[in-house]
Amino acid sequence: MRISIIGAGYVGLVTGLCFSEMGHEVLCIENDPEKIDSLRKGRIPIFEPGIEGLLSEHVRKGRFRVEEDPREILQTEITFLCVGTPSRKNGEMDLRFLESAAVDVGGVLREKEGYHVVVVKSTVIPTTTETTIVPILEKSSGKKAGRDFGVAMNPEFLKEGSALRDFMNPDRVVIGALDERSGNCVRSLYRDFRCPIVEVSLSTAEMIKVASNAFLATKISFINEIGNICKSMGIDVRKVAEGMGYDERIGPQFLRAGCGFGGSCFPKDVSGLIAEAERRGLDPVLLRSVLKVNEVQPLKIIELLENRIKIDGKRIGVLGLSFKPDTDDIREARSRIIVGELLRKGAIVRAHDPKAIDNFRKEFPDVEYLRSAKECVEGCDAILIVTEWPEYADPSIYEERLVIDGRGVVKTNNYEGICW
Ligand code: UGA
Repeated sequence: MRISIIGAGYVGLVTGLCFSEMGHEVLCIENDPEKIDSLRKGRIPIFEPGIEGLLSEHVRKGRFRVEEDPREILQTEITFLCVGTPSRKNGEMDLRFLESAAVDVGGVLREKEGYHVVVVKSTVIPTTTETTIVPILEKSSGKKAGRDFGVAMNPEFLKEGSALRDFMNPDRVVIGALDERSGNCVRSLYRDFRCPIVEVSLSTAEMIKVASNAFLATKISFINEIGNICKSMGIDVRKVAEGMGYDERIGPQFLRAGCGFGGSCFPKDVSGLIAEAERRGLDPVLLRSVLKVNEVQPLKIIELLENRIKIDGKRIGVLGLSFKPDTDDIREARSRIIVGELLRKGAIVRAHDPKAIDNFRKEFPDVEYLRSAKECVEGCDAILIVTEWPEYADPSIYEERLVIDGRGVVKTNNYEGICW
């Protein structure tokens, strides 16, 4: 099929390149000329294992193109909207980019003679596609959804760092559709996948996405709270999680206690759901607590440090700045809270991360950045492990220094775990 993607961000690139890999012809529309230029040269603005290889292969084969003019989508049969839906200050999702993409696509569809399907892939609060995007598309195209063009909602469940694998081997594909014809068109794209295909309404698909993220975030805050209780009792929460995880009703994943969750999705989606629930006069007590635990959790590592040394004037090494390994993304990373608090308490902060230093430096210019974990550790009074990059697992780099491990990476002689 000829597919167009609006937005060459993380989701747009992964989706587009995986569709190219499946043999489709993909056109990606992007409005940042610099990004277009670098993509055409095979350079990718994000760090995601395997993605650069796919880009150069499919650009070379002519199966993946990047263009600026949205009118190019006339040559395709289906358009995926993959633009960002960031958080506003009040927690609501900011639909500015999505609305503007819908205006553009609708405007182009005005000229299209045949049938076309528009698919929302961006994460949105339930009912957005039906109540906001469909009316925009109808107004700007002068056409009727369901009759002249199709509409679907097809959420992504990609994890940064394993996005290509997640796309190609999903646990399930969720397709929300306005009508049968739109649904059939999207389903045909996933025909070779051997996983359950969940076919639902537009709003149900949207809710499956945000509820999945809210549930995973809840699991993490749950195990962190249990972990804090375990710590006070001298119990290792990792053993508790293992023992719990064998129960099929619970499952072993997302029970890794630590300094909390970050990234562009969990905090944003949970906040968005809370804001929407409140707008509807509901009181989402559990979801608010999930975020509360997650705000306090990174401070636990500082509390443990303060129990051992006075922070003011000490050299503290922070290992790991990205919100998780295998990415340079520092959005909502717990390292920001931890480094901010260390600086506020008068520490001299030295930091290392294999990928995220450039991003982190922009916000924290007063930190001393080192090229290796070993160099970072040298001369420090204590070390905090904040992200579980594999190189931090070597106990010999720490010698006899105090290590407070926020992720369960290593075991040394002078050691304290956050929840064990
Ligand atoms: C998350 C979801 O896992 C994806 O399914 C979803 O598609 C994506 O959001 C999205 O909505 O786009 P991602 O944010 O890339 O993916 O990262 P995760 O691997 O889920 O990790 C999120 C955070 O939770 C990280 O800070 C990680 O360190 C933390 N985490 C994860 C824990 O603290 N404990 C765990 O057991 C698991």
